[in-house]
Amino acid sequence: MEELSLIKQAMRAVMNGQPLALRDPHRPAWHLAPSVGLLNDPNGFIQHNGVYHLFYQWNPLGCDHRNKCWGHWQSADLLRWEHQPIALAPSACYDSHGCYSGSAVAAEGKITLIYTGNVKFPDGSRTAYQCLAQESERGEYRKLGPVLPLPEGYSGHVRDPKVWRHQNDWYMVLGARDLQDRGKVLLFRSSNLRDWQSLGEIAGSGLNGLEEFGYMWECPDLFTLDGADVLICCPQGLAPQPEHYLNRYQAGYLLGKLDYRQAAFSHGEFRELDAGFEFYAPQTTLAEDGRRLLFGWMGVPEQDEEAHPTRRYGWIHTMTCPRELSLRHGRLHQRPARELQQLRGERAGWQGRLHQRPARELQQLRGERAGWQGRADDAPAYALEAAELQMTPQGAFSATFGDAMTLNWDGERLQLTRTSLTDGRPEHRYWRGSVTHLQLLFDRSSVEIFINRGEAVMSARYFPAGEPQLRLCGSAPLALEYWPLTPCMLE
Ligand code: FRU
Repeated sequence: MEELSLIKQAMRAVMNGQPLALRDPHRPAWHLAPSVGLLNDPNGFIQHNGVYHLFYQWNPLGCDHRNKCWGHWQSADLLRWEHQPIALAPSACYDSHGCYSGSAVAAEGKITLIYTGNVKFPDGSRTAYQCLAQESERGEYRKLGPVLPLPEGYSGHVRDPKVWRHQNDWYMVLGARDLQDRGKVLLFRSSNLRDWQSLGEIAGSGLNGLEEFGYMWECPDLFTLDGADVLICCPQGLAPQPEHYLNRYQAGYLLGKLDYRQAAFSHGEFRELDAGFEFYAPQTTLAEDGRRLLFGWMGVPEQDEEAHPTRRYGWIHTMTCPRELSLRHGRLHQRPARELQQLRGERAGWQGRLHQRPARELQQLRGERAGWQGRADDAPAYALEAAELQMTPQGAFSATFGDAMTLNWDGERLQLTRTSLTDGRPEHRYWRGSVTHLQLLFDRSSVEIFINRGEAVMSARYFPAGEPQLRLCGSAPLALEYWPLTPCMLE
């Protein structure tokens, strides 16, 4: 479609559709969501001159995966985001069927976007170009055209460029499906972002000790964290296991060392980044203060998307909260970005009459702030619309979040359960290990559960009828702190 025409239609869709979207009781109060239409991957996440930019895959014209543009938000603090003009719309011959995912770098003082131009042919085949666009004085993005056609030996599925600077060069990873239907990550180098030299495959199905490991890998991201190299990737086609790989597609990471000279990445085993129901296509950036920050899409392609109730209000999907990454004991840890603490309202620690411990003991247990300590059974019901909850369980318990979701800890396994949107049956996700601390972030139709201060996360959408309340059950002692969270989206 012609660019101007698409943007005019998008404008109409937003103006007509926003009032309805804002009436949706499931619309988040503090997570990023599309004003109308469909959001998927975070793109081009960067902090430039102190300002955060987050672009995103956006279909402004409907809740299906068509017309993929790059939407654009900007924020000074990771909390309050402002809408910016659509950065990219699929209008050129090299991106006619979607301005697909990609990343941003600052080059010569300007934000430069590297994205995939997706092109489909009438016979059902497709090709892909890696393309550039550059920020103008007015904060608009000017397309500079393709810089890399489809590399030889691959299907039309080669996409999602993530670019970074190392020493005096630019490097890029791409997700790919080869001609034998094996998912791969390809590495390229360039001195100027325009001329790219292929350095070969650095990871994938059948490489570096991995056996058959999916037919396509999407959205790679490679960065150094606390001395190790981390390759994030999203393999498609992994067989479900009893407690793993239960989502339609997976998002995980490989930890290792990238040898830039040999273009070889030796790595350990693949680990999932999130043990919940909805998490995909995460992207990281290095903040100016040195933190490695991550946004993920709180959705999964082709996973019950048609059954999400928010479609009736003309929008679908949200981002995760921004997270800070660190490496501990050889594992990637994720914690909510510290900025999110600013959303906390007044702390409500209920003083349980039963089993209340002396304040000093509580303080040792919970750090300097005393909270509520009692039996799970005696805990009050808290409103979960937009809230943070921290719990230190000392034994088995279960928690229900309104009528829509339960979290159960039996001493060995954490189990998150909800009713399937498509067939009404219970569905589960699991995490195994010893739970010493839980931090739960609620936002109307989502929960993100941070286990043991970042050791694992479970992210999920859920659609409670009415305003959800927390109910706890169990006889074991449990310390609890609760904060309502202040809405902060600018709409
Ligand atoms: C991942 C993905 C990417 C692609 C984009 C299209 O969710 O399929 O591989 O670039 O979404 O919207």
